[in-house]
Amino acid sequence: MRRIQMFVLLTTLLLMMTPLALIAEETMTQKPFGRTKYGATIEKITLTNTNGVKAEFLTRGATFCAISVPDREGEMADVLLGFDHVAGYESKGNQYFGCIVGRVCNRIAKGKFTLDGKDYQLYINNPPNHLHGGNGNSLDKAIWKADEVKTDGGVSVKFSYHSPDAEENYPGNLLIEVTYTLTNKNEVRIEYFATTDQATPVSLTNHAYFNLAGAGSKTVLDHVLTLNADHYTPTDETVIPTGEIAPVKGTPLDFTTPRVIGERIDKLTETASLGYDHNFVLNRKGEGLEQAARLKDPQSGRVLTVYTDQPGIQFYSGNFLFGQKGKQGKEYAHRSAVCLETQHYPDSVNKPDWSSIILRPGKEYRHVCVYAFSVE
Ligand code: BGC
Repeated sequence: MRRIQMFVLLTTLLLMMTPLALIAEETMTQKPFGRTKYGATIEKITLTNTNGVKAEFLTRGATFCAISVPDREGEMADVLLGFDHVAGYESKGNQYFGCIVGRVCNRIAKGKFTLDGKDYQLYINNPPNHLHGGNGNSLDKAIWKADEVKTDGGVSVKFSYHSPDAEENYPGNLLIEVTYTLTNKNEVRIEYFATTDQATPVSLTNHAYFNLAGAGSKTVLDHVLTLNADHYTPTDETVIPTGEIAPVKGTPLDFTTPRVIGERIDKLTETASLGYDHNFVLNRKGEGLEQAARLKDPQSGRVLTVYTDQPGIQFYSGNFLFGQKGKQGKEYAHRSAVCLETQHYPDSVNKPDWSSIILRPGKEYRHVCVYAFSVE
């Protein structure tokens, strides 16, 4: 009798304890990651949600550097390209992996714009154009401050950076905050906020490179993509938008229904974008968060759904990846990752008919992008 009672008691105790043991706690940890070539310390921030999913970030470039998510068998894989050391991020192998880009992401024609009657000349780092905010201390290379912040339904880190007046030749002191939240639904929510003391163009994005089969897998050409976009912005031979808004229908850019990325990409190989490297005009119903893209790896079943409140998304198929060695020595081959960068249309600063990217004193720049991970 006593044995039976003991058995019942132990079983009850075990049943009570198991779910608690399986639920991980929401945590944020911050540790040194390494030093820059100038001796500054770069910190790594790890957010863990109640599912035990971890997302990692660096203070250099407020970089989203790793996230391990389950496949349909529960097998975890890190789906983000990146490096194990600061030196990797400082090398030419780092093609904006996971960082925040700006003040203006993508290209500005010939690095020129006129604002309130004054002409500005920015650095030409992608001849003949300016790309992703410049060369010296653009936001991707800056060292940001990281603070834990309290949010509901997840765990968050807020990165802040003060970009001084005339940095990279952009006017005004720009105060920028980027908050990453790892929710308990396995979403990474990115909230951008900026204010200025002089009018200045602002269009920020995150440049995460995803391979849902795991970073370092050979290709993304087998991934299936859907884009909520009936139109795109055609470009000239230097990948600057012509100003036209054209339908995707009947072109290799039609992803309005799920399509395998590799199916039609070769039709674009001979074009200036060398594959997919296009800004899509999102079909929008209102001002809030709406689905922009859905990417699926049919093998693993991992799915990434992108939501945003921005007017456009740049879909880039990693055409310039060249086999650089990344995390754990894995090779990042040509077209082995996808970037889905939510933003204003490229070169908006020179397109008066498009929605303005000029931030003025007393106004706030805001942008939300959600990368939601699931399985199918
Ligand atoms: C651009 C590409 C560029 C790449 C750099 C993308 O956002 O659209 O043209 O080569 O960034 O990594």
